[in-house]
Amino acid sequence: MIPYGHQHINAEEIDAVVKILKGDWLTQGPVIAEFEKNVAAYCGARYAIAVSNGTAALHVAAMAIGLKNGDEGITSPNTFVASANCLVFRRAAPCFADIDPITYCIDPDEIKKAITPRTRVIIPVHFAGHPCEMEAIWEIALKKKLFVIEDAAHAIGTSWEDRKGVRHKVGSCSHSHLTIFSFHPVKTITTGQGGMILTNDEALADKCRLLCNHGIIRDPSNFVNPPSTVSHQRVYPPFYYEMQELGYNYRITDIQCALGLAQLKRLDQFVIRRREIWAYYNDALEGIEAFQTPIERKDTQSAWHLYAAQADERDELLRFLHDNGVGAHAMYIPVHLQPYYQRHFGYQKGDFPHSEAYFRKSIILPLYPSLTDAQVEYITNQVKRYYQN
Ligand SMILES: Cc1ncc(COP(=O)(O)O)c(C=O)c1O
Repeated sequence: MIPYGHQHINAEEIDAVVKILKGDWLTQGPVIAEFEKNVAAYCGARYAIAVSNGTAALHVAAMAIGLKNGDEGITSPNTFVASANCLVFRRAAPCFADIDPITYCIDPDEIKKAITPRTRVIIPVHFAGHPCEMEAIWEIALKKKLFVIEDAAHAIGTSWEDRKGVRHKVGSCSHSHLTIFSFHPVKTITTGQGGMILTNDEALADKCRLLCNHGIIRDPSNFVNPPSTVSHQRVYPPFYYEMQELGYNYRITDIQCALGLAQLKRLDQFVIRRREIWAYYNDALEGIEAFQTPIERKDTQSAWHLYAAQADERDELLRFLHDNGVGAHAMYIPVHLQPYYQRHFGYQKGDFPHSEAYFRKSIILPLYPSLTDAQVEYITNQVKRYYQN
């Protein structure tokens, strides 16, 4: 079976990981900082904090902005549950704004309708790698004094051009307070499990770092109770630390970051190949009336994590492809229709019709750099064969 997504690991990357395994630090060594620095430089953001996975990154970002019980946050129904769960982790109400039926990303006009006096944050999701309309979203956020956390789990390597013709890389946080990435193996670059938070705001960066590490600090200049001033805390100074917030162990390891650092060097190459395969599918499948190929908006350069199309007789096509060795997929089941969200927040079928209509026809064809031209041709031929029958 050809899977819908797959990592691509080369000998250099394996060597980089082995070098760490033979060295002194497995967890909190120097490679983490190097990976953070290089991702920040690649994206053009000032600060980057590597964490254990993308869900942890969302959770920490939601904590860092001070989200709390009674607040509301708005995200897309067409996403993995983690984008909304980070609101629930903070006891904030998860609210949704329907998608633009062309890009399948959150629609800024729908965001405007979903805003209430309790709204604190917008979490746009760059679905499949296609960037959301960040200029419009940022304007709304500035006007309404809201935070913006970009869920860019799918979109490292994506860029877009603003109305003045200036190009922005996803992750630069030029139109958001924080951006998160996921480095799960199906994503564009991987660390096994892993994630990252980017920001240009020093205070938010410090907060994120603190919250990923139990809320503990070791920097003497920030101690609340320096050991020299509190007798019961006297200890040989290097052993002293303070827990100042309730944080989590969301740290990543040097082993993972060695892989990520090496993968980052190939990111642009990966994006070129992903875009090539995406364009091949689009050209080859364009003429099939029952199959709607995806669209890339003018002025955007998507890293294309997913080839997300829509198909009539979707389930029959999925079955046919699986029977013929093609592990196509369908995603996302709209988050508001998950039993947990229906039970706790009263969402119902029909609440977000564009997301529901998209999912009914959603089909994700395999897309990753190591797919061969022959495999890509085979996959398109299977789709064509289904509709010819
Ligand atoms: C849109 C989106 N956000 C967040 C996540 C969570 O990332 P992770 O699996 O690294 O926790 C995912 C993972 O699939 C995702 O697709």
